[in-house]
Amino acid sequence: MDIKMIQFQSHGDERGELVALEQNREIPFEIRRVYYMYGTNPSIERGHHAHKNLKQVLICVNGSCKIRLFDGYEKAEVVLDNPKEGLLVESFMWREMYDFSDQAVLLVLASEYYDESDYVRDFQEYQDMIRAMK
Ligand code: TYD
Repeated sequence: MDIKMIQFQSHGDERGELVALEQNREIPFEIRRVYYMYGTNPSIERGHHAHKNLKQVLICVNGSCKIRLFDGYEKAEVVLDNPKEGLLVESFMWREMYDFSDQAVLLVLASEYYDESDYVRDFQEYQDMIRAMK
């Protein structure tokens, strides 16, 4: 599976690091929503859903976590542990987030407002949708 990692430029100097992200530049869509996960129990998994329309960029701005992706045919695992890179998760990608480190903060930049009707939470339904799109 083609994993789309986006490398960000860090404007680091003796004071520290700074990463700036702009829509339609570093982030390949208009950013309508930003959310972040923190205080995540290291023994739990999050996600377990896909989106019909939403695109996201996931950035672990502190600590680390792992992302399991499935496009309906192939699986991939990505470690996010670098605030200078983001994982582009396109629509119709099943995603699971797990192995959150202590103090992990997972920042998500999203192309759409929150819309529960855009979620596909049932794995069988997801697979049926992917097959129907073929
Ligand atoms: P949930 O979708 O379960 O998170 P995960 O990405 O781990 O599957 O979201 C947790 C709760 O937060 C749920 O009650 C819905 C709410 N929520 C919003 O209100 N706005 C949002 O943008 C998101 C992503 C979640």
